[in-house]
Order: sequence, then structure tokens, then C-alpha cells
Amino acid sequence: MKMGNIKMDDYSGSNFLKENNARHLWHPMTDPKVNQKDSPMIISKGEGEYIWDVDGNKYLDVTGGLWNVNVGHNRKEVKEAIVEQLDKIAYYNTFINNSNPPAIELSTRLMEMLKIEDMGKVMFGSGGSDANETALKLARQYWKLMDEPQKTKIFSLKSAYHGVQFGVLSASGGIQWRKAYEPLLAGFFQVDNPDIYRNPWTENAEELGQICADILDREIQHQGPETVAAFIAEPIQGAGGMIIPPSNYWPLIRKICDKHNILLIADEVITGFGRTGSMFGTRAWGVKADIMSFAKGINSGYIPLGATAISKKVESAWERDHPLSAIMHGYTYSGHPLACAAANANLEIVVRDNLPENAERVGLYFLKELKKLKDKHISIGDVRGKGLMLAIEFVKDRDTKEPFAFNEPYPALVAKNARNSGVMIRNQGHRIILSPALTFTNDQVDEAIQGINKAITSASK
Ligand SMILES: Cc1ncc(COP(=O)(O)O)c(C=O)c1O
Repeated sequence: MKMGNIKMDDYSGSNFLKENNARHLWHPMTDPKVNQKDSPMIISKGEGEYIWDVDGNKYLDVTGGLWNVNVGHNRKEVKEAIVEQLDKIAYYNTFINNSNPPAIELSTRLMEMLKIEDMGKVMFGSGGSDANETALKLARQYWKLMDEPQKTKIFSLKSAYHGVQFGVLSASGGIQWRKAYEPLLAGFFQVDNPDIYRNPWTENAEELGQICADILDREIQHQGPETVAAFIAEPIQGAGGMIIPPSNYWPLIRKICDKHNILLIADEVITGFGRTGSMFGTRAWGVKADIMSFAKGINSGYIPLGATAISKKVESAWERDHPLSAIMHGYTYSGHPLACAAANANLEIVVRDNLPENAERVGLYFLKELKKLKDKHISIGDVRGKGLMLAIEFVKDRDTKEPFAFNEPYPALVAKNARNSGVMIRNQGHRIILSPALTFTNDQVDEAIQGINKAITSASK
């Protein structure tokens, strides 16, 4: 590799990369000082469920990239689809009266996959934040087209993560993401999320589902349903702490949205395409949303892509004659041919190999093994998961559930120890997030558990 007057034969040794990373590169969700002190993992190769760093060390990738590489790394079918499209044309836009074959094929495929949910149209973007931003904008536009322009407010949940642009950040309820960028946008409100491990009301899941649904209901009534455009939530809160709602929660919020004539937006960026053991997170709760956002697993991250699906009911507003019916929204990379070609090949694999079913089966085994870890280690307050979306929550005291503060080293040390023994996991605050490829096997669960067990044992010393 040649860079100006710097010549590198390959990445081995890797000092060039480590030094220049510290010198030039800022990382998301990180204080830059951290990467100055400690070189990040520099990953240069992947195969299936394994990755290699620039020094040649091999790791079991229990993070699945960033809960997105659902079919695993370096899949021949996905690469070939990208190259085949590259040989035709790398890019053409989908603005106004342009389109391209992979985008059309993907829209057709998605509508077929989303038949149960009554979806009617899809708009593409470059990732999850984009997909949710599109969802929020279309929700507001919907009410203008329906001649109810005062319905503009967006409700969401505390601890939610919907992305980083100002709109979606304003809907994100996690304080840690908001603080440095406030003030955020007006008209966004968060209500309590149904967190069975940490809530002031009850240990009974169904009761909690009802309490949190009632809180949403009351807040909407308090503010006036005629002012509210939409409620957005993740079927399972991911970055906010892997919070799995009680099974009555989503059906209840669907009813509340219907009662108050409010759109329900499902942020399926993590849960879409099989991660929770069902093709879609909302499908597992038996609920149809009005708008659904996707990214990550849509093409396993081979090329950035996001998608927003709009139900037939919502779509019908655009059939009306209205001066505001043009969709004045979209990105240069909406419907990028390479990203869509990758998605078409990726979704073929997801369906052909029934990866949601594998995620459910292997996820159940993973959870069972995590429960055994909890019995061994006092620092584990809770383990939970659905499909291959799992978490370990560390506490300083099991009885009081006192969590480790954000900057306390223990959880990060566990993650680091695990990586040192060849198991790639990541901590988010005091929780370890586990989200491998949906192709994961029980043997790989055993390998992961062994590494995590060792990591906790040595961190606890
Ligand atoms: C539920 C959810 N929504 C939205 C996003 C934002 O996606 P992106 O980082 O692709 O913009 C994420 C990212 O992790 C997410 O987990």
C-alpha cells in the first residue's frame, strides 16, 4: 500500500495503522482521548462468524459487526451480487423520474416479505438514522395531507435509540446521546419504557406492560391527541439496554395509537430480518405498525442501506389531491444499486436458510448458558435476550441492583479480557451486548461462553 511518501507492504506489524488512527481518526460514541491512549481493534478480515485484526489475531465475532452482519462475513453470494452490479453500473439515482433495477427488485421483495404487515411502499436511505428520519417526516406529512396539520408531535420511549440526526436524536430517549447536543427539537416527548429489571412499580411483566401503556395513553390525552402525529419505538430496545417489553405491551400501544388516531412507527433497524427469532420484531408481538424502519440486517452491512416501509393505509394519503403531496425528501444514495443488490442477495440467504429460526433456536441455548454464568458470577445482575439479541447486565450489588457508573472500568475490562482471549464482545455502559450473526451455532455459543466466563473471572479479581 502506498500513501504519499509512506510505503507499506501489508498491514502486518500495524504500527502505521495504530499511530495514524490515533492521529487522524475520530470514532463514534467515544471520547477521542480513549483512542489516543489505547489503540482500537483494527479489523482487517472476516469469514463467517470470525474476524481477524491487523496483527493476525482471530476472534469469534459475538457482536456481528454492530448487530448488522446477520449472514456472516465474506459471503460469496453477497459479494458476487455487488460485483455483478458493479460491472453494469455502480451508481444511479432514484430521484424524480429515475430508477435502477436492484432498487426496484428490492422494493418488490420487501413488499412481498411485508405482506402480513400490509406495507404498500418503501423509501430507501443510507442507514438506520436515515430510515427513522424518513419515517418521522412522512408521518408529519401524512397528517398534513389528511388535513390535520396540527398533528405534529412525536412520542417515544425513554432509553430509546433511533439515531443521531437532530430529528431522530430528539426522539431518542437515552440522555447520554442527547446531553452534548441539546437543545434538541421542540415537539418530541418521551414516556417511561417497560423495563422489567429496573422499574419502580412491579416485577410482574404483564402488569408493567399495562402500567407503561397507561402512561403513554395518559400523556397523549394530556397533550391532546389532535396534536400528536406518531409514536415511535423499537420492538426491543437495543442500544438503550436490551430491554424486552412484556408481551402485552406492543398490542396495548397499537390499541392506544388506534384510539387516538396516531401513527405507530416500528424502528426495526436491529430487529428486522430475523434477529429476534421472528422475521420482524413487531411480528413476534403480533402487531402491525403503520411505518417500519430498517437498516443493518437488510444487507448485513455489506454496503450502507436503510429502508422505510409505509403501510397501505398511510400510503393512501398520497393519493389525495393536495398541494403538499410531493415527497420533498430523499438522499443521493436512496436506492443505491450496489447496496440494493447486496440486500437482494442477503435476503435470499435469510429466507433460504431460515435464519430467523436459527436465531431463535441458538438464542434460546445462548440464554440458557448465560443463566448458568449468572449463577457463577455475583457481578451479573441480569441476563436477558430474545433470539440472538442478548445482554449481560453487571451490578455492583445484586440486591440493590446498583449499576456500575458509566465510566467505571469493570464492564469495559470484561469486554477487553474477552477480546484478549479471542471472543469479540462489546460493553455499552454496564451491559455487555451479544448480537452475533444469525448463522451462529451452539458450538460457537460454547466458545463465547467460555471466553466470557474467563473474562469475568479475571476482571473480578
Ligand atoms: C434501533 C436503532 N435505530 C436506529 C439506529 C441508527 O442506525 P444507523 O447507525 O445506521 O444510523 C440504530 C443503530 O444502532 C438502532 O439500533
